[in-house]
Amino acid sequence: MKRSKRFEALDARPVNLDGYISEWPEMGFVAMHSPYDPKPSIKISGGKIIELDGKARKDFDFIDTFIADHAINIQRAPVSMSIPSLEIARKIVDIHVPRKEILKICSGISPAKMAEVIGHLNVVELMMGMQKMRARLRPFNQAHITNLKDDPVQLAADAAEGALRGFAEEETTMGIARYAPFSAMAILIGSQAGRPGVLTQCSSEEATELDLGIRGLTTYAETVSVYGTEKVFVDGDDTPYSKAFLNSAYASRGLKVRFTSGAGSEVLMGYSEKKSMLYLECRCLYVTKGAGSQGTQNGAISCIAVPASVPSGIREVLGENLVATLLGLECASGNDQSFSNSPARRTTRTLLELMPGTDFIFSGYAAEPNYDNMFAGSNFDAEDFDDYNVLQRDLQVDGGLRPVLEEDVIAVRRKAAKAVQSVFRYLGLTEITDEQVEAVVYAHGSKDTLNRDVPADLIACEDMLKRGITGIDVCRALAETGHEDIAQRVLNMLKQRVVGDYMQTSAVLDENYRVLSAINTPNTYMGPGTGYRLDGERWEEIKDIPHQIDPHNL
Ligand code: 5AD
Ligand code: CA
Repeated sequence: MKRSKRFEALDARPVNLDGYISEWPEMGFVAMHSPYDPKPSIKISGGKIIELDGKARKDFDFIDTFIADHAINIQRAPVSMSIPSLEIARKIVDIHVPRKEILKICSGISPAKMAEVIGHLNVVELMMGMQKMRARLRPFNQAHITNLKDDPVQLAADAAEGALRGFAEEETTMGIARYAPFSAMAILIGSQAGRPGVLTQCSSEEATELDLGIRGLTTYAETVSVYGTEKVFVDGDDTPYSKAFLNSAYASRGLKVRFTSGAGSEVLMGYSEKKSMLYLECRCLYVTKGAGSQGTQNGAISCIAVPASVPSGIREVLGENLVATLLGLECASGNDQSFSNSPARRTTRTLLELMPGTDFIFSGYAAEPNYDNMFAGSNFDAEDFDDYNVLQRDLQVDGGLRPVLEEDVIAVRRKAAKAVQSVFRYLGLTEITDEQVEAVVYAHGSKDTLNRDVPADLIACEDMLKRGITGIDVCRALAETGHEDIAQRVLNMLKQRVVGDYMQTSAVLDENYRVLSAINTPNTYMGPGTGYRLDGERWEEIKDIPHQIDPHNL
């Protein structure tokens, strides 16, 4: 066939490098309505749910049993289940119906009913729902802090810069897993050098992550993964019960915990049981709630390419974010793993959460260049900071970040890098030279930094674990090497673990360690003139981008 030049040009566009597939419910490639999704039902007898979404108790798998026993309010269920799904959907967008009433209704509906409710909402209505149902009044943001060399100096500097730019939570992970103790310590120090009160996480193998948490080197855990079918759980040697136990292990030591789930994981694992991604994700979120976790990181997360490949898939992603809020959970709404070659697609996908505001717009904005992102690339990265700041300014929305000055960034990067250098020396870990510190201060990414002695670092990491080094040792090292201010901030973070208030739903800490959560600062949106309004000091901060012309200086 003779090719049309128009079609040749279109075929070469970035959007056509993405993968698309038509709906295929038998293999789970369907976003919101599979013909195999169950019909909603709840039957109760003797104070127990004996039928859930068309399945009798004797046929329950362990997810059904867990949900029936722990995630549904049986007192509410008869009334809630009798309200037509369309009516619940309308209440969600109705500004006269408060968030609390929606939470009450949704506490008594089944997962299939939840999926049916979401199915009635178009994408704008989902955003309206999110604006009202988000747990915390003010939206915030979460960053990835990683690099290709697992360089703790760069981690600290990037964490400090990220904190200054406004991230309320920062998480790291490693290329080489054994670097975990250095990484956890580096972002703890770096984050506090940038802005007191930032929460940090080191995503690693479960036992290590828990150990680092108990030592006080991290303040939250997030990658407690749950799945929508039993077979996927079993493949990971897990159950909803084992996840609930892990959740309690963290919480009992004063760490904030959120679970992780999202569309597409069951499809990728080959066990979708022909169900829609939305229905399976509803099951995940009920498990999350039933396990007592305060929140979730969802919105497909690392599986985003799967929903993004099918019709209405990106609408489903916002839909599953909304389900989290309807169950009263904190929602860190994805936007992390990159899924598209098209700038239009990746921006549109993010606007769905940025415009209404979620508890954390990104559950992992890459605060490093793409090549340094050890979680795999993110939808937005360090090269998009100014784009993001301008989007906030254009739309007058709070996406959790702010413009910063180059000199301020350089200053906090140096402060953090030097603090890590001192702590390493004091604790007798590996050497960090002045040249290394200087390179990191001015670096964009690890291509601009010096190489580390990896074997020596790994021996020191092991040593750090063997010697039982904890947050208190880090604190002492900082205090005795002239970094009293950061030492005080790290100590304050350790105190928070004893106080425990930051374990409330959707909690973050401001720079004075004041908890902002769904308990003391809940979302109060009920239409124009209510809820969170971006104005005052915060709006001044967002407006003030360095690249604008100041007419007074002309
Ligand atoms: N479902 C469950 N867990 C997920 N994670 C990412 N995406 C999903 C998903 N769709 C978790 C995994 C991964 C980490 C980055 O987050 O544990 O290792
Ligand atoms: Ca995350």
